[in-house]
Amino acid sequence: MRRRLLISSALTAAASVAVPALASPARTRLPRMTEGPFYPPRSWRADSTLWPDQDADLTTVRRKEGVLRAQGAWLGLEAQVLDSAGRAIDGAEVEIWQCDAQAAYRHPSVPATAGRFDPGFQGYGAAVSGTGGELRFRTIRPVAYPGRTPHIHLKISHASFGTLTTQLFVAGDPGNAEDFLWRQLDSATQQAAALRLTPAPAQTDLRWMARHALVVPS
Ligand SMILES: [Fe+2]
Repeated sequence: MRRRLLISSALTAAASVAVPALASPARTRLPRMTEGPFYPPRSWRADSTLWPDQDADLTTVRRKEGVLRAQGAWLGLEAQVLDSAGRAIDGAEVEIWQCDAQAAYRHPSVPATAGRFDPGFQGYGAAVSGTGGELRFRTIRPVAYPGRTPHIHLKISHASFGTLTTQLFVAGDPGNAEDFLWRQLDSATQQAAALRLTPAPAQTDLRWMARHALVVPS
């Protein structure tokens, strides 16, 4: 009996040593999705009259005629690129694109009809993550597009995993339940892809803030 107890406690001790605590819990990756029809082609973006500005601030378009500001509710998106083991990814290129407050995308297939799109919205932007995986965008709170719940498209690229094309949604948006892409995601993946918006501090020019981990493959 005594011997059995000793063996049992030895096994317990061994088990607690053999299974170290994880430095960081495993995280659910962003879902892989297609580009969809409105990823602005690189060749088209190379036209500096169409695209004078492709930085990480989509709320402002700087043209030589002047500076235009986006319609809609401005959103500060603070993101961190992490892999599914919790490691920060330094130097990831993150591209985002979304429709403007009038639900018009910047794309060669979408006519830029005066009054039916917002010339103050940049439509596309890009940033590179810093040493802690961090990056930030200024954009607008995404709006519904016909047949789709509000969403932001992303393309994340880094040598460690290649390219991940995905979308971010707005947590709690009533349109999500009807969205054909959102409905395909399991609940953990929905969480990974859902921005939790909070009102921005009054001293900023933003209306909403979100902090979000962009979890990519290990
Ligand atoms: Fe879209």
